[in-house]
Amino acid sequence: MDTAVTKKTTADALEHWKSRSTGWKITNFDAQPRDDIFNIKLASALCIHPGSNILDVASGTGEPSIWISKLLEEHKGATITATDMTYEMLNIARERAQLLNFTNIRFAIASMDRLPFADNSFDGLTCRMGLMFPKDKENCVKEAHRVLKAGGAATYLCWGPLRSNPAFQLFSEAMKNYFHEKFPIREVRHCLGEVGAITKLLHQAGFSAVNEEVISYKREVTRGDAYFRQGIARTWPDRVAEFTDNDWAPLLKHTEEVFSVLKKGSKFFIPINANICRGRVK
Ligand SMILES: C[S@@+](CC[C@H](N)C(=O)[O-])C[C@H]1O[C@@H](n2cnc3c(N)ncnc32)[C@H](O)[C@@H]1O
Repeated sequence: MDTAVTKKTTADALEHWKSRSTGWKITNFDAQPRDDIFNIKLASALCIHPGSNILDVASGTGEPSIWISKLLEEHKGATITATDMTYEMLNIARERAQLLNFTNIRFAIASMDRLPFADNSFDGLTCRMGLMFPKDKENCVKEAHRVLKAGGAATYLCWGPLRSNPAFQLFSEAMKNYFHEKFPIREVRHCLGEVGAITKLLHQAGFSAVNEEVISYKREVTRGDAYFRQGIARTWPDRVAEFTDNDWAPLLKHTEEVFSVLKKGSKFFIPINANICRGRVK
């Protein structure tokens, strides 16, 4: 890509995530570390020891970095650096860490394809739902390889195919019916969804012992769960920015009706499908 195209792509991406951050902010209901399956899997792929130096890229509002920061508290001198290209997203993570008084976490604005760190700086690297978005994914993974020490490992977690994550389709449908206009699905989310796609990138970047695994489960959600509000606000923040609780109530009721195809008894069972891939630096 020539420089002018790269600059335009980066500016568009920044604008996109900056506008999304308002939706992430209003649905960041508390600062607490989240022990969800994705964070647990990413953290368990790390070999943490006293003095460990971990890098999380595309950290957004702090997943998994806040969770890892909590785990590092038991390891003297261990630190995590949370990074993201979007100041507005990362600032929410910083506020969470401040509220929690976590002192082993640092923050840096960084694009995954040009990491502002020296070679051989980190023992482990994590990335949750970030690698799908940059145009130059190959370079992003090469950068990860460069900043990791020998023996260090990178672990990427990305959404599986759209067909295995029907919630995205249902959210889109609910918005379309409610507002009577199109709400296209962001297909880019699923561009690394086929098993083997992340593995290929890691091999190309020189990682060894590459191992990819599918995470597939049904998330149990009850009526009124924040899940529905979060799904809408984080994807279409501009449509709900001014919403009061009275505005939300009928939209959420309608959304739950659309999701009733996934309902059994009083609960919704939301299929979740993602791929997690780890590779080691020789
Ligand atoms: C779906 S959010 C995931 C955030 C967080 N890891 C999580 O799981 O909640 C994707 C994040 O990737 C960031 N991002 C997108 N492209 C990036 C790039 N080239 N370099 C660094 N961050 C990027 C966005 O700013 C956004 O915060």
